Amino acid sequence: MNVAGLRAIVTGGASGLGHAVARHLAARGAHVALLDIQEGPGRAAAESIGAAAIFLRCDVTAESEVEETFARAATALDGIDLLVNCAGVIGAGRVLGRNGPMAGDFFARVLQINLLGTFLCDKAAAALMQRNQPTADGERGVIIHTSSVAAFDGQIGQVAYSATKAALVGMTLPLAREFAAFGIRVMSIAPGIFHTPMVDGMTPELQASLASQVPFPARLGKPEEYAQLVEAIVVNPMLNGETIRLDGAVRLPPK
Ligand SMILES: NC(=O)c1ccc[n+]([C@@H]2O[C@H](COP(=O)([O-])OP(=O)(O)OC[C@H]3O[C@@H](n4cnc5c(N)ncnc54)[C@H](O)[C@@H]3O)[C@@H](O)[C@H]2O)c1
Repeated sequence: MNVAGLRAIVTGGASGLGHAVARHLAARGAHVALLDIQEGPGRAAAESIGAAAIFLRCDVTAESEVEETFARAATALDGIDLLVNCAGVIGAGRVLGRNGPMAGDFFARVLQINLLGTFLCDKAAAALMQRNQPTADGERGVIIHTSSVAAFDGQIGQVAYSATKAALVGMTLPLAREFAAFGIRVMSIAPGIFHTPMVDGMTPELQASLASQVPFPARLGKPEEYAQLVEAIVVNPMLNGETIRLDGAVRLPPK
């Protein structure tokens, strides 16, 4: 698919990787709807991108809200060709933490946002994309999940987070197989450690220690580099049903 003229929804678009993806695609001629639960930062992010971007408030865990918001986005953009799921939370915590064992509700909330939220958005996007006019290659849409290297090398304190990110990897192939009938591709990206507000919340010492663990380049990833991989997936029709690590060869240690 060409990026110029692409009609895209980016969840988690108010911040970090999602904002960078929206900015990158819009700069190359796409029209983008930024969805996020944070209204002020979401509006500011869309305004900073310009006329090619709109913001729609959406909690990805609320099924009817997702369906309504995707319908509004499709009306505003005149259809949807691409969904990039970036909404997510870090959900860190030990199972046997300082304040006692982890509550099931905490674990379930991380699952709701990172996993159920992605599923609901995938479903809403595919339901719209299946009606698209196919490209010459028979393509009707592309769906991208934001997994994490924590899907494969989860650290202590990442039980809930790793479970959700591994589940996104697991969903990728069956979705790609099912949606093949409609010409809709499904891919996941598993980022290493990227410099976003999610990581800004960590102490400088922890950030430096994380950066020093990356073999090359020995630094945190830039959100723009994540956006470049999104573009590469969009334009290459053979990329389907797979998860790509984007991590400078980092393999996270237990802690
Ligand atoms: N930054 C990294 O190093 C890194 C590494 C691997 C994976 N990831 C994943 O990338 C994605 C984006 O992370 P980021 O670093 O840009 O974080 P971020 O905190 O900057 O952005 C996440 C966005 O998701 C939004 N969000 C949270 N819950 C939501 C909900 N229920 N409905 C709608 N929006 C919601 C937040 O408001 C926020 O704007 C996440 O899924 C994260 O797990 C990040």
